[in-house]
Amino acid sequence: MDNNKHKLVVIVGSVRDGRFGPVVGSWVAEQAGLHGGFEVEVVDLADIEIPLALPAASPKYAGESYPRPAGMAALTSALESADAFVIVTPEYNHSYPASLKAAIDWHFTQWTAKPVAFVSYGGAAGGRHAVLHLENVLTELHAVTIRDGLAFPNYFTAWEDGHPMDSDAPQYAKTLLEQLAWWARALHSARAAEPYPA
Ligand SMILES: Cc1cc2nc3c(=O)[nH]c(=O)nc-3n(C[C@H](O)[C@H](O)[C@H](O)COP(=O)(O)O)c2cc1C
Repeated sequence: MDNNKHKLVVIVGSVRDGRFGPVVGSWVAEQAGLHGGFEVEVVDLADIEIPLALPAASPKYAGESYPRPAGMAALTSALESADAFVIVTPEYNHSYPASLKAAIDWHFTQWTAKPVAFVSYGGAAGGRHAVLHLENVLTELHAVTIRDGLAFPNYFTAWEDGHPMDSDAPQYAKTLLEQLAWWARALHSARAAEPYPA
């Protein structure tokens, strides 16, 4: 931890050509910087090698011997060192992108006993279906999901110059980040005091 700040990893979950994800990811990182309580790292899954074919072993049991590709090292190390996550996700066919599922499935212990918040965007539902699915998946990994998320319906009319047009959005982000920071502190101390019984 740098200056006693907990490490927040913002994950940009979409990887397709022409995607909107990096705009949302940059804004989230900006809000986290304004919050001031975190050391912030943005991980863009488009920069990571994420094969769909997993090794024979399970990442849950293989530990450090799990054979990940060299191009995944930055992701693994960011997840490992994180005290908290914000997952930035769009909605694809009422769920979240396959890139994000693959990135999650290549790891296990890196998520355990850590808090995860969500910022979603999409059409009318604002990515809420994607977030509901992510909450379910991350529970399996012993992560703790944060109730207050940000959802941007019809994002194509709701953002301008890299920022949401809703003037309340920064306040919603602040609330999300305060809840995330509370959990990051609590779970960091708990992990240090006693191994999580996964
Ligand atoms: C394969 C695919 C499926 C989509 N399905 C949905 C959907 O079910 N609900 C929705 O609100 N938007 C849907 N969209 C629209 C996306 O939310 C929108 O294209 C968004 O920009 C995708 O994020 P990205 O630009 O970061 O890839 C879909 C887009 C794609 C590419």
